[in-house]
Amino acid sequence: RKPLTLHRLREMHAAGEKIAMLTCYDSSFARLLDDAGVDCLLVGDSLGMVLQGQSSTLPVTLEEVAYHTRAVARGNRSAWLIADLPFGSYQESKEQALRSSVELMRAGAQMVKLEGGGWTAEAVDFLVQRGIPVCAHLGLTPQSVHAFGGYRVQGRDESGAAVLKRHAAELADAGAAMLVLELVPSALAEEVSASNPGLMTIGIGAGPVCAGQVLVLHDMLNVTRGKLPRFVRNFMADASSIDEAVRAYVRDVKNGRFPDPQLHTY
Ligand code: KIV
Ligand code: NA
Repeated sequence: RKPLTLHRLREMHAAGEKIAMLTCYDSSFARLLDDAGVDCLLVGDSLGMVLQGQSSTLPVTLEEVAYHTRAVARGNRSAWLIADLPFGSYQESKEQALRSSVELMRAGAQMVKLEGGGWTAEAVDFLVQRGIPVCAHLGLTPQSVHAFGGYRVQGRDESGAAVLKRHAAELADAGAAMLVLELVPSALAEEVSASNPGLMTIGIGAGPVCAGQVLVLHDMLNVTRGKLPRFVRNFMADASSIDEAVRAYVRDVKNGRFPDPQLHTY
């Protein structure tokens, strides 16, 4: 297939085709996911938990994300490659956000992702003006886990929902092209998606009415041990290979069978 571009992703979104995203941290999986038709690969700072065994994403450094981005970029041929700006690599100033983004773009990223709303709009605008596509991330933003007091659903009450809606509109205004919505009620994700048609919303525990979906690779492949969030589906359950599981994920995101409004949403 032809390499995905931001232009192509926008066309898909406008045509109502869902965007299938998975996290990816190495070259072998990059090749496999790309061949299986995954649209976007995210080098998430979840690598801290998934690969390093940390209990949160906070210890992950910019150099570590850059290292994994280089590996993914070597294996990838056509998927759109997004890399996470880790904790502490963009919070200080928009200039710091630019310096860190440059590292990730040099490593092979085509878009950077950063967490939070409000103060981030200025940084997003600064990056977008300088030619760096940005994916924002609202709802449960894991770099703020200690401020949230755990991994819980966000925007459940009216004031929380209002703040999230305002932040999404500001990020869209600042030029963010994508927005990950994590652990928010489906109705709220639906409203944010509808009010910001230019923003491609990517849900994770945010219901089916988003422009696309993302899961942590090791979660959907049933590699992760322990209790998983309700929004995860084990795609290995009905698959005889990893390739088949990933293809089933892409198919079910595209045809709207994942996530299931009953099982995987709030
Ligand atoms: O780091 C990560 O894996 C993420 C996704 C779950 C959205 O940010
Ligand atoms: Na992340």
